[in-house]
Amino acid sequence: MSLASLPKAELHLHIEGTLEPELAFELAARNGVDLPFADTEALRKAYLFEDLQSFLDLYYGLMAVLRTEEDFEQLADAYLGRAAEQGVRHAEIFFDPQAHTARGVPIGTVVEGLSAALSKSVERHGVSTRLIMCFLRDQSAESAMQTLESAKPYLDRIVGVGLDSAEVGNPASKFREVYEAAGALGLRKVAHAGEEGDPSYVWEALDVLGVERIDHGLRCVEDPALVERLVRDRVPLTLCPLSNVRLRAIDVLEDHPLPRMMDAGLLCTVNSDDPSYFGGYVGDTFHAVHEALALDHERLRELARNSFVASFLDDDEELRSR
Ligand code: HPA
Ligand code: ZN
Repeated sequence: MSLASLPKAELHLHIEGTLEPELAFELAARNGVDLPFADTEALRKAYLFEDLQSFLDLYYGLMAVLRTEEDFEQLADAYLGRAAEQGVRHAEIFFDPQAHTARGVPIGTVVEGLSAALSKSVERHGVSTRLIMCFLRDQSAESAMQTLESAKPYLDRIVGVGLDSAEVGNPASKFREVYEAAGALGLRKVAHAGEEGDPSYVWEALDVLGVERIDHGLRCVEDPALVERLVRDRVPLTLCPLSNVRLRAIDVLEDHPLPRMMDAGLLCTVNSDDPSYFGGYVGDTFHAVHEALALDHERLRELARNSFVASFLDDDEELRSR
């Protein structure tokens, strides 16, 4: 079995994290944006991160090249094409409205541009899609609430809300009210937790926000009672092993707890997070965990199956896309 042809769903993917250096320079030229890098090679050389924050600083800076609907459409279409080549049949895609509105790009520009690509994706790439908007957790709860308000005209195209950016010091409980409001609007709920934050961040995402999936969740392994809870409630974890290495959550891929987590009965999925920055798309990630963690094909098939089970597809759609 070729790992690239194994049908998969990708559930943890930031569309802004698919911005390849070549496209960044193309958009910079088109939009008259000056980048503080001489060329794509110099930019790639800057992809040596100390931690989550050092990545986020570069990542938000580079978003300056994304300005028009066409830019967002081109970004998403490029991702969907690459994802399809790696066996992705369904993608639940994060975007960060506040990272764009803070630069004067209206949320409507972002959503219209992304959905122009997403609406053609099944026909063009054979990939079904959902869109999840994330609140930046290092911004205020008021800003998150305003963002939810500003998204109301576009909720026909947004399936849920998430929480990303700098985790430590910004616990889930800060966003209790905005998640309640999102739930009342019928939106699904996920949140990054336990990437750099300790297990209490995962508990809060579950108990205070009522999320259905945990993005990352890596540090749950430090708390047996939390593992028991996640197993009992079949809460999916969207793990991103290449991201964990690049952002130094773990030293080397060979140390990743994924096999232990699967053995413990956790509903694990593997995903690419920000593939342009972390060295691989989701098929590459499957390949890397196969090699580094000696996961056999049965285990890889289990991960692929889990990705559909953990998705927001309904049962009929899930069966059709597997
Ligand atoms: N963690 C938090 N915020 C993010 C990430 C991540 O891995 N990727 C993009 N924004
Ligand atoms: Zn992420």
